[in-house]
Amino acid sequence: MNRKGNVYVTRLLPRPVMEKLGEICDFEANTEPRPATREELLRGVRGRDAVLCLLNDRIDAAVLDAAGPQCRLFANYGVGYNNIDVSEAQKRGIWVTNTPDVLDDATADMAWALLFATARRVAEGDRLMRSGTFSWQPEFMLGADITGRTLGVVGAGRIGRNFALKSRGFGMKVLYSGRRPSPEFEVETGGRFAALDELLRDSDFVSLHVPLTPETHHLIGERELGLMKPSSILINTSRGPVVDEKALARALEARTIRGAGLDVFENEPNPEPGLKALDNVVMTPHIGSATVDTRTNMGFIVVRNIAAALEGREPPNLVRA
Ligand code: DGY
Repeated sequence: MNRKGNVYVTRLLPRPVMEKLGEICDFEANTEPRPATREELLRGVRGRDAVLCLLNDRIDAAVLDAAGPQCRLFANYGVGYNNIDVSEAQKRGIWVTNTPDVLDDATADMAWALLFATARRVAEGDRLMRSGTFSWQPEFMLGADITGRTLGVVGAGRIGRNFALKSRGFGMKVLYSGRRPSPEFEVETGGRFAALDELLRDSDFVSLHVPLTPETHHLIGERELGLMKPSSILINTSRGPVVDEKALARALEARTIRGAGLDVFENEPNPEPGLKALDNVVMTPHIGSATVDTRTNMGFIVVRNIAAALEGREPPNLVRA
């Protein structure tokens, strides 16, 4: 009789995904409305053929060892996989996969939502309407123009490109930076490659779309914030530690930049305390990919990867160190 693979799931995914997963394997899931604790994780992965994990599960050598030599795959529910020590997994012959492509639109849309909310003071206006009243006057709650301005896109991957493409409707000039020029990015968006410093100096809006790696940790720190125009706005939907959050809070408080729209934070779920008192920052709780269809489709990708690994085939969305 064929033995079905045995999978540990660190957090329940949308119901259609759990149903599909149930068709291809036996699984045990953390059903608590919170991430698995370290102890639960170490215990849960033991002896499994595959593990379905989330961006807030730290998958390091200890977890990989706890899983054991029969484990074939850690399938991350997310495009970012900085939570997993991929080179340690590779040393043990364990595959790691992610969920690319299906979240490009949702994440790029979220970056736009934050850009608009910050530039046009949407969250601040909402707070005002709930707590009091207003008297219309010519210089009341003035914000920043968007149409025709310069957009700086840091990271020329799929999400950065998608975000830049959407600026066409607003007639914006696009600058982008990355490890190297991308002809694809330029053809699709009309953007021009620029060194990061030039992009920071010349852009009215700077949006971050890089993965978190040792090279991008604190890519935007005090020096970089100091290069930005006092009228400019920073948007981050990538990973919190790409920005030195303490330096950002200081820059926002001193108004050396106009504002920031943040969906990700250095120490999630807690933003730097200084940020909470500031009106020129809009914060959302890491919801870049949080639409019904996107989160479901991400789950189906995870199931496809697990199915392949359990059959001994290389999974389609393999990532390497
Ligand atoms: C990711 O996929 O990496 C996002 O941060 C969560 O959707």
